[in-house]
Amino acid sequence: MAAPRILSGIKPTGRPHLGNYFGMMRPGIEWQDRGDAFYFIADYHAFTTVHQPELLREYSRGVALDFLACGLDPARAVLFRQSDVPEVTELAWLLTCLTPMPMLENCHAYKDHQSKGKVPSHGLFAYPVLMAADILLYDSNIVPVGRDQKQHVEVTRDLAEKANRMFGEIFVVPTPSIVQTTATVIGLDGQKMSKSYGNTIDIFEEEKALRKKVMGIVTDSAAVEDSKDPATSSIVALYRLFAPESDVALMEDQFRAGGIGYGEFKKRLFVAIWETFAPFRQKRAELAADPAILDGILANGAERARAVALPVIERVRRATGLR
Ligand code: TYM
Repeated sequence: MAAPRILSGIKPTGRPHLGNYFGMMRPGIEWQDRGDAFYFIADYHAFTTVHQPELLREYSRGVALDFLACGLDPARAVLFRQSDVPEVTELAWLLTCLTPMPMLENCHAYKDHQSKGKVPSHGLFAYPVLMAADILLYDSNIVPVGRDQKQHVEVTRDLAEKANRMFGEIFVVPTPSIVQTTATVIGLDGQKMSKSYGNTIDIFEEEKALRKKVMGIVTDSAAVEDSKDPATSSIVALYRLFAPESDVALMEDQFRAGGIGYGEFKKRLFVAIWETFAPFRQKRAELAADPAILDGILANGAERARAVALPVIERVRRATGLR
């Protein structure tokens, strides 16, 4: 059997955080040895909210640097910018015409927006269709994502199956891949870690800022001597992402026993986070020092992505009567 095609994207709406890392980047990096992996910087998607050109460029490059520093190997996986293959917007239009409005009205990003009384743009409403186009344009088999993107991959599957019934087998129907233990990484306030909640810890946080954020994790008001509940603690939940099982078990025991304050546990978490990313920081600094390196990687990525995408869009044009 041919190697599976793996594809995922990340929106450059800021700097990648621990949710992005554990939910998608790390699994994606693991997948690069097991198939034909394509990862992209979803700048068209980011344009739903980032309307400052310099910022969009800066975030796009920053996300690419972070991904590479964390272990994405451009010799094995293809790293590209979504907008370098603009045919994706053509496919998005075709899919839009097959998408029933209620399917999108049911999607959570749109519903969240509405529930806050905000008026969503058409781009935000149609966001899952562009995502479907991303996935289908590359004949993707597997889509590594965090739990919050599962619904969007399901929309993609529905649209692919519908198009295949209407026009013959033009699309590969993808399967989401979600790592259960890291499917929803929680943030400083105990909710899902998300840029829009302002509760993130970035992967490449400066030391002082990281310490400040970790020390600011929301806890209950238990005193030093009190027994504490590890099951409901954000400190323990985050520590579990970084520390070996035995260290987590020790922290849980010490929570229950009482006698140690939250501040002490937070310091332990800070060290675990800082040390985990230490080797990547060096690599990121090297990559950032010479912008030509990233330019070359993205140009090569665009070329490899286009080589896959162009025959697919041509296949779709023919099947739908556009050629
Ligand atoms: P984005 O940029 O919001 O997030 C990128 C990836 O990080 C995951 N993630 C999380 N995982 C666990 N816990 C969290 N707290 C957490 N926060 C974010 C997301 O699930 C995602 O996998 N629409 C996508 C980008 C995209 C895409 C695609 C993905 C565009 N086209 C095609 C896959 C395939 C998004 O906004 O991800």
